[in-house]
Amino acid sequence: MSSPMTPEAPSTTSAGPASAIEAVLRRAIHAALGRGFEDVDPMLRPSQRPDLADFQSNCAMALAKQAARNPRDLAQQIVREATDLLALCEPPEVAGPGFINLRLRPSALAAALDAMEAGDLGIVRDLDTHPVVIDLCAVNVAKQMHVGHLRSCIIGDALARAYERRGRPVFRENHLGDWGLPIAMVLHRLRRRGADLRTISLEDLDRAYRAAQAEGRADPAGLEAARRFRAGPHRIAELEEQNEGAQETVDGARRLLVALQQGDPDLERDWRLLIDCTLRALFDAIRILGVRLGPEHNRGESFYRDRLAATVAAFEQAGVAEVHDGALVVRFDDRERPLLIRKSDGGFLYATTDLAAIRFRTHELNASRIVYVVDARQKDHFRDVFDACRRMGWDRTPDGVQADLVHIGFGSVLGPDRRPLKTRSGENVTLRSLLDEACARGHAEVRQRAAQEKSPTAGLPDEDLREIGRMVGIAAIKYADLSSDLVRDYVFDMDRLIAFEGNTGPYLQYAHARICSILARAAEEGIEASAWRTAPFRIEEPAEKALTLLLLRYGAVMTDMTRSLEPHRLCGYLFDLSNAYSAFYQSCPVLRPDDPSRRLPRLRLCDLARRVLADGLGVLGLAAPTRM
Ligand code: ARG
Repeated sequence: MSSPMTPEAPSTTSAGPASAIEAVLRRAIHAALGRGFEDVDPMLRPSQRPDLADFQSNCAMALAKQAARNPRDLAQQIVREATDLLALCEPPEVAGPGFINLRLRPSALAAALDAMEAGDLGIVRDLDTHPVVIDLCAVNVAKQMHVGHLRSCIIGDALARAYERRGRPVFRENHLGDWGLPIAMVLHRLRRRGADLRTISLEDLDRAYRAAQAEGRADPAGLEAARRFRAGPHRIAELEEQNEGAQETVDGARRLLVALQQGDPDLERDWRLLIDCTLRALFDAIRILGVRLGPEHNRGESFYRDRLAATVAAFEQAGVAEVHDGALVVRFDDRERPLLIRKSDGGFLYATTDLAAIRFRTHELNASRIVYVVDARQKDHFRDVFDACRRMGWDRTPDGVQADLVHIGFGSVLGPDRRPLKTRSGENVTLRSLLDEACARGHAEVRQRAAQEKSPTAGLPDEDLREIGRMVGIAAIKYADLSSDLVRDYVFDMDRLIAFEGNTGPYLQYAHARICSILARAAEEGIEASAWRTAPFRIEEPAEKALTLLLLRYGAVMTDMTRSLEPHRLCGYLFDLSNAYSAFYQSCPVLRPDDPSRRLPRLRLCDLARRVLADGLGVLGLAAPTRM
């Protein structure tokens, strides 16, 4: 216990001075207001007026109302109770109607930076040790991947990395669409036509997929209408034939699916060839993209095929599902449409697989959080599936922890015409073509800069420029996916995304590369890294202070990202940090300061900013080249 006269420095480790200040204010509020005010949020915010304060607490106004007190008096009293603050801050000031203005002491800033460096950059480890499941990617076998799958990979990977950074075990679950009638239809068609599945390309598969769908699509309504409107006999005959053909195709595919389900080795081999072909194209794109996803993360729909009957039976036994017209459905009080979990012909559905998957993930993987990174258009599907599982109590780990089920529904990527992104020929843009373009544009951008004599990349061989260009181009795409509010659609504009200025991936990379250049120049001038690493921090100029205050927020930003599941917050933070570094660099000469004793402390601050930027870029899955 600290006595009021000799304030003890509150701990400034991990979450930084802001959380230490919050803790003191919480105690002071309790002391000022007594019972019922034990755990009040002190509403501490970075100050809008850095000339007056570093932080401000706005709690007194709201609390004064509740306690029928004068807000300024209450603010004064809280300040009097908060003597522990004096180890960290200059004497607090009460301003206006009752704002508490706080300014950190330079020594506290330096100490907090020391603690941050010693303590893993301020990252706070997650106390929950249950795994998190990130359901990402989930491409469909025999279908071309599209931009939506790309977004799922990019966003899912960033979230997974953020959890991993905080020490939480993560299961990246690639819930491949590798099972069910559509795939049986493709296989049925390809086998009938004697296609060689070992050499087939994804384009061929995609064509076969569409042809099989068209072939299997009966048009009974059209036939009926044709009869009703007395269409010509020719048209009616044509429609009759189409309907019969479609029925035959679907029946054939059904028989094939049953045989596959029963383990026919020939079919099993062919089915695996389809998966292999799809995965080759996927992992080829994944490699360029730098997303952490491999075959070890595959657990597709087929994995659950032997669990579907038991899943449905459990629903029936619990009385959560009921039979309706021969089908099995789960009804919800607050929505009209029930969730279908078994068709009247006994077949299972996409939803049935997802129910089985949730049960597996909570009960067997022990996950206390399951995050689905899937297109916003599947919102209703997940709402139904989550609620159905909650009714079954499947949203609990074996040790009884309530698991969060979350769908991060992301928006579409639009072309300049504000319609879903298409290629010039009007096809859906494939993942691969988009990535190739990004790499080429990045390369062009980097090459153009390298042509300037003073550029750090001047004289590098084209191979290296191409590699840097790839990092830049991919960062442009990924950052675009991560930096906006996820649910919003956004317009894909390569010119804007690839720019080294503005809120872009390449801008952040460039800020990092510029710090690397300064440190490299220091080394050229004979200043050893060991010299600045041991120099004491000195935070004196406003720009140094602004940069410091941002650096100290890093740990809290990372915690926030894993709680809110909003990567754009980390993006915004890194953008602010890059700007603060630029401002610092402009006003505080690093290698030639007016006072030479400031050189090493400034180099140390640069190095810390570099490490935070590199760390943050790494969590977003963006490369951090040292020269650009
Ligand atoms: N394969 C589906 C699609 O491409 C996405 C699957 C998402 N994950 C899931 N567990 N349902 O639309």
